[in-house]
Amino acid sequence: MILNNKKIVVGITGGIAAYKALELVRLFIKNGALVWPVMTRSAVNFITPLSLQTVARNPVFQDMFDLTLESKMSHIDLAEKADMVVVAPATANIIGKVASGIADDLLTTIIMATKAPVLFAPAMNSNMYENKIVQHNIEKLKKIGYHFIGPDEGELACGYEGKGRLAPVEDILDAAEECLAPKNLKGEKILVTAGPTREAIDPVRFISNPSSGKMGYAIARAAKRRGAEVVLVSGPSHLAPPRGITFIKTTTAEDMAEAAMRHYPQSTVVIMAAAVSDYRPKISHGKKVKKEEARFNIELERTQDILKEMGNRKRGQFLVGFALETEDILANAKKKLKEKKLDLIIANDPTSFDGEVTQVTVLGKDDKIEALPALAKNEVAEHILDRVINKLRS
Ligand code: CTP
Repeated sequence: MILNNKKIVVGITGGIAAYKALELVRLFIKNGALVWPVMTRSAVNFITPLSLQTVARNPVFQDMFDLTLESKMSHIDLAEKADMVVVAPATANIIGKVASGIADDLLTTIIMATKAPVLFAPAMNSNMYENKIVQHNIEKLKKIGYHFIGPDEGELACGYEGKGRLAPVEDILDAAEECLAPKNLKGEKILVTAGPTREAIDPVRFISNPSSGKMGYAIARAAKRRGAEVVLVSGPSHLAPPRGITFIKTTTAEDMAEAAMRHYPQSTVVIMAAAVSDYRPKISHGKKVKKEEARFNIELERTQDILKEMGNRKRGQFLVGFALETEDILANAKKKLKEKKLDLIIANDPTSFDGEVTQVTVLGKDDKIEALPALAKNEVAEHILDRVINKLRS
């Protein structure tokens, strides 16, 4: 995982969203990072150093001239040893100070002294955010190479509605990972499909499956982080679309086929993680079917096999499929690899359909078989992309 053993200075400044920094720190720790929390003087009005220290599992740095902490880890050590600095929430004040080259407290000094990437997650009143000085400062910092995530639109603590909400912590985590990820998919156009499809029986009933979309969304997010241009074609899913990608929402296998085939010619890599329905009702009733005493038969007809069609129309694209199997996993996956003219196939069983963790086996055209241990889908996504890169570059 990208954040594993990475040292992250998390700077917390004085805004109401400071309480969300606790959750962000918890997420960083969960993802294997080592957090050095730094609070500004006004941040302690919003959350206590004790709560932060407890979730960060590290002492909180507050004062530049704290003799005990300085002797253990000086502000220059923090700046030099950090792999990245994340300021969340970032007030207009800290953005202004950094943009003006002011280093008058511990956090601004670290930002000034570090060579690591710095990510700001602004949060403030919307009028403040729209202020031309703030906008100018953000533009200036972006131009120099500082990173920004958010803010989002929505209800603000001050009662206003508008742009100024701290980006969701999951998005801040994702942006931090993006800053540190190798950009080894730059130049690639990756088409990913995800989730189930729904085939209507009538306006209130459909045929579908329990796929959550998690695997495909994780792949899309990871590919974007690595610098690829990503198109995600998704069936119905409750997941939030990753930022910075082209997102196409579909319902039926036919919709999905249309969207995927439209983007296929210009793609360099396709990863079909969607659980596409193989059949649909031959007749989709326009009105709700009323129950009767006798049995009700649904005649099914085949949908298009999108991946097979892609295999037949291959013009240099690298094709990755999934094989969902309950028996003879490897033999069936190999058959699909060949029949659909794939470059790689990921075999899995349905136990992980809507779960967080999955155990997959990766099979290549070269008959190489690699069984991965049970891993979080985010990690599996990274492994799959590593395999794609290996094959693309070999
Ligand atoms: N797939 C597709 N279009 C379909 C069905 C499947 O593009 N109509 C893709 C899936 O996204 C997956 C691969 O084909 O990448 C294999 O899907 P899977 O459901 O495992 O197998 P099927 O080809 O549908 O065969 P079967 O159901 O007989 O196992």
